[in-house]
Amino acid sequence: MYLTIIFNLVLAVSAFSSGDRAHLDVRDNDKDCPIFVYTSWRDLILHGDCRSSVQLTSSSGQTAEIRCNVEEGRKVFRFPPGIFEIDEQLLIPASCSIVGAASPNDMANPKKTPDWKGYQGVDTIRPDDNGALCGGGAFETKGCAENDCKVSQVNTGGSDGEGSMHVVIENVRINDFFFAEDQKKIGFPIPGNYDCKTDHWTEECCFCKPNGVRSTQVAVWVPESRNAEGTVDILIKHLVATSAQADGINLHGNIKGALVHDVYIENTGDDTLALWGAESFPEQITFANAVAVNPGIMRPNWYGNCVATYGLRSVIFANITCEAPTLEQPIPQPGGGEVNIDTSMFVFYTSFGGSYPSGNSIYIKGWNFKNLQGTGYTVQEGSLNTFKPGKMVWTKAENGILAPFYLPDKKQEVNVIACEGLKDEC
Ligand SMILES: *[C@@H]1O[C@H](CO)[C@@H](O)[C@H](O)[C@H]1NC(C)=O
Repeated sequence: MYLTIIFNLVLAVSAFSSGDRAHLDVRDNDKDCPIFVYTSWRDLILHGDCRSSVQLTSSSGQTAEIRCNVEEGRKVFRFPPGIFEIDEQLLIPASCSIVGAASPNDMANPKKTPDWKGYQGVDTIRPDDNGALCGGGAFETKGCAENDCKVSQVNTGGSDGEGSMHVVIENVRINDFFFAEDQKKIGFPIPGNYDCKTDHWTEECCFCKPNGVRSTQVAVWVPESRNAEGTVDILIKHLVATSAQADGINLHGNIKGALVHDVYIENTGDDTLALWGAESFPEQITFANAVAVNPGIMRPNWYGNCVATYGLRSVIFANITCEAPTLEQPIPQPGGGEVNIDTSMFVFYTSFGGSYPSGNSIYIKGWNFKNLQGTGYTVQEGSLNTFKPGKMVWTKAENGILAPFYLPDKKQEVNVIACEGLKDEC
């Protein structure tokens, strides 16, 4: 693969959530692409061992070199073309960048698969875990392994659990390596997989069977962190993900300053773009020029929307495109019976600890909301304030504009300001 990542500070990169799924399954016809086992290159990165050139030998005897230079105080590792296996979380030291041979993405045509590969995970199921995304991200920043730091002392990638600062993830292509082969399995019904009436997941099979689509759980996961500063200054751009077992991008916990722009993410098994502040009030978060296609399809009819928030202080969504179907028979959540898939374009939840302090703000600036055939949704065909099967929810924003968002419960004051045009004042 061509790993094209630029990290300014510290990042835990993980490929897989458990040992036996840890190997990139490379097909025989990829013989011309050299494969470098993880141990052949890991130590250079792990120890920040920056030498002008290090020779590597691939499993089939080809040689290539990793070069490193110090540029503006950062160690910049440049990788040659090849497949670099990663079979555990790899903690990237501070002030290191990993740069691949070329950008894999043409953002004007994000679906165009390059004739070379991207970052590929091989999970074929969302495991029945505690709902945490740790270990499932192609890219993870430092922080806690549990959703809630108080639950254990374990951290991502063996890190110190303190929030990462000044991280750049750009020009990465995720889970496209096997996409052509696995695409036909996306959304394909699996008998016996939809018994979701109660939350006794061990007795009922509610998506307990693999969908067979090899993917990482998430493209980017920012976990909760242990220090007061939290996660600071994250930039994610020119990222394409063709599938994910869980979310596309999920920003969790205390974050000050995150910009996600020019990303294209399709075929998730959960929300595509998620801001999960829980009780930590993330602020100065912006998602711009992002395209989200078919959220939740990896677990059909179950859970996922193009954009979802679970607590925050401030966020801007500018020029987001959502392509999502209306579903005739979504599976209601056990107990409450609410539907959590394809209900609207933006859903602002109070579940999963989602807290919105007084003075919170959500700006929606310009949206493009359509079905999978490309036909735009209109407020006239929608459902006002409440969900009805076969319809998308629209709600009136603070400034009187009707916009495609949904507040599933009205227990907290969530301040949404919307304007239809990107350049409109709002
Ligand atoms: C809006 O986003 C789309 C998709 O990313 C992009 O093609 C378009 O150029 C953006 N528009 C503006 C005005 O930035």
